Amino acid sequence: KEYATLIVTREGKVGLITLNRPKALNALNSQLVGELCEVLNIFDKDPEIGCIVITGGEKAFAAGADIKEMQSKTSVEAYSTAFLAPYDTIAATRKPIIAAVAGYALGGGCELAMSCDIILAAENAVFGQPEINLGIMPGAGGTQRLTRAVGKAKAMELCLTGRQMFADEAERSNLVSRIVPVESLHDEAMKTASKIADFPVHVVMMIKESINRGFVTTLSEGVRFERNQFYSLFATEDQKEGMAAFIEKRKPQFKNR
Ligand code: HXC
Repeated sequence: KEYATLIVTREGKVGLITLNRPKALNALNSQLVGELCEVLNIFDKDPEIGCIVITGGEKAFAAGADIKEMQSKTSVEAYSTAFLAPYDTIAATRKPIIAAVAGYALGGGCELAMSCDIILAAENAVFGQPEINLGIMPGAGGTQRLTRAVGKAKAMELCLTGRQMFADEAERSNLVSRIVPVESLHDEAMKTASKIADFPVHVVMMIKESINRGFVTTLSEGVRFERNQFYSLFATEDQKEGMAAFIEKRKPQFKNR
């Protein structure tokens, strides 16, 4: 299927979504966000897909929500149409998503990246929550996810001043997992994604769910949740195969991937 705002491809078991409104620096209008949610749902259900990559262009991952589209909104309209609800779909995707970020990831673009599970940054990546410059505030998780990632002081400073943060600072403050040269961003993201997609998909999904559970519950409840998922894996053939392969000094032939 063709999309107006995305390029969607598959490489092996990896689903690759490229945001494609380069003239608007991939500003996230409702069409783009709608198409993105549609594709994420398709990939999430597809047994042939084990991991998803979202990327943009070399100049911009996404420069935020589309200001031209938002300009005339009323608060009644925003509330009654649940303007930002589609962002919940992104975070609710059960398979892991890697955000491969080059250039600007600002406002909703930064929030989109933070709704993913791993952020891989090119050397030229720029992160920020500049909404305050527009007389608004972050609305798709920025005040929450940025704070959990980089801590209160830096999140406060970035959201309250609109200051942009370059890749090296983003890595130092644990927003991104690592930095790669711009020209190898695509390959590194795909390599990481296919590595993940080669493992049994149910294990991958349980690890994602367990890590995310830690953000919404207490440590002791999170540990219990993890332990029960761990126990359940001993009912799977992939556990038998993975451990047998280790003992027999061979590569495991996992079934559920
Ligand atoms: C609509 C945008 C846009 C945006 C850029 N463009 N960002 N259009 N919404 N968020 C458009 C410009 O209008 C311009 O179109 C073209 O993309 C190129 O942008 P320039 O500004 O000419 O490029 P440059 O000078 O290189 O500056 C790049 C930039 C700047 C620093 C990223 O574009 C910028 O500050 N953008 C806005 C960033 C921002 O405030 N984001 C937060 C949005 S609010 P024309 O037609 O003039 O060529 C938000 C709310 C989140 O995200 C709520 C939850 C989702």
